[in-house]
Amino acid sequence: MDRGERERVPVIEDPAWAARLLSSGGLVAIPTETVYGLAADITHREAVARIFSAKGRPTGHPLILHVADVESARRFGVLGSRAEALAMLWPGPLTMIVPATDLVPTEVTGGRDTVALRIPEHPLTLEVLRTLGGALAAPSANRFGRVSPTTAQHVVDDLGGILDPERDAILDGGPCPVGVESTIVDLTCDPPQILRPGGLPTTLVDRLLEPLDGSSTVGAAGPARASGMLPSHYAPERPVILIERENRGTLDPGATVIDRADDPIDAARHLYDDLRRADTSLDAGTDTARSQPIIVVQPDEDGGLGSAVRDRLRKAAAPRERPMTSPNG
Ligand code: TXA
Ligand code: MG
Repeated sequence: MDRGERERVPVIEDPAWAARLLSSGGLVAIPTETVYGLAADITHREAVARIFSAKGRPTGHPLILHVADVESARRFGVLGSRAEALAMLWPGPLTMIVPATDLVPTEVTGGRDTVALRIPEHPLTLEVLRTLGGALAAPSANRFGRVSPTTAQHVVDDLGGILDPERDAILDGGPCPVGVESTIVDLTCDPPQILRPGGLPTTLVDRLLEPLDGSSTVGAAGPARASGMLPSHYAPERPVILIERENRGTLDPGATVIDRADDPIDAARHLYDDLRRADTSLDAGTDTARSQPIIVVQPDEDGGLGSAVRDRLRKAAAPRERPMTSPNG
């Protein structure tokens, strides 16, 4: 059947309905403060497997476990003293990598003995998590490598024709207020490593770690360990060119320009929507339109949202290894 003819996945607002679908083995796109996630209850192996096929994501890439409270986090991960200290930043845009317990299925961790844990700060999703009492595995609800979703409509655009209208749903919790993914800190190494800058400033993490044992985080080293660490990721259809604030004056007035660089909070909140709109603003169906660059003025490096936005933009602008085809490709 043609995608257009197929029934579309329901967009719902009731967390109890979302919880029922999840506990029956369905997939639900859930709102969080960062981006929308595509969630499965980890006790349903087939549902977890469907996350990878819906996203087109390679199966070795581990998923983040979302839980309702610190007590639940302790069932799935071994929280040492550093994780216990950082847990005061939950609910919030912080993901911690810690040793996994036996309750975490290998499909979720890609066979690793570590697990990524976070308590998201969104009332609807917290309600779903409290109802279920367990853990939801949820990567961002976009096709692999593409721009993350920050509204329910973005999820409809990316996955509406891929999810199963009989079993799955999109829980609409409004636009995501932070707009970039969580900060990922790996606490299984010493000193702790920041695998991905994100919604929570790394300076806040250091402020809690330093008084504890004198440690502070370092940037990630070694081979790519988080999918967000691949050179090209978060990429729109059109090529992306980055410029610094001081070079604004040199821009061609006819160019497509995204400039929220003076306000990192605003830049983060609107980043993915701006990139998606730039893709559809021209007649993006044509090859000429697709080759027109999007010019983005970058916020300054600030250890917080400015750094997270710069990280995503660097990946959006990186040379692409795969051919760019459809928006879902
Ligand atoms: O804000 C967020 O973190 C969003 C929302 C939905 O919570 N989720 C998100 O998930 O961005 P995803 O799958 O797009 O990115 C999760 C990252 C991946 O880069 C993955 O490789 C890394 O977390 N990750 C997960 N478990 C890991 C582990 N055990 N060791 C190292 N990296 C891990
Ligand atoms: Mg992602």
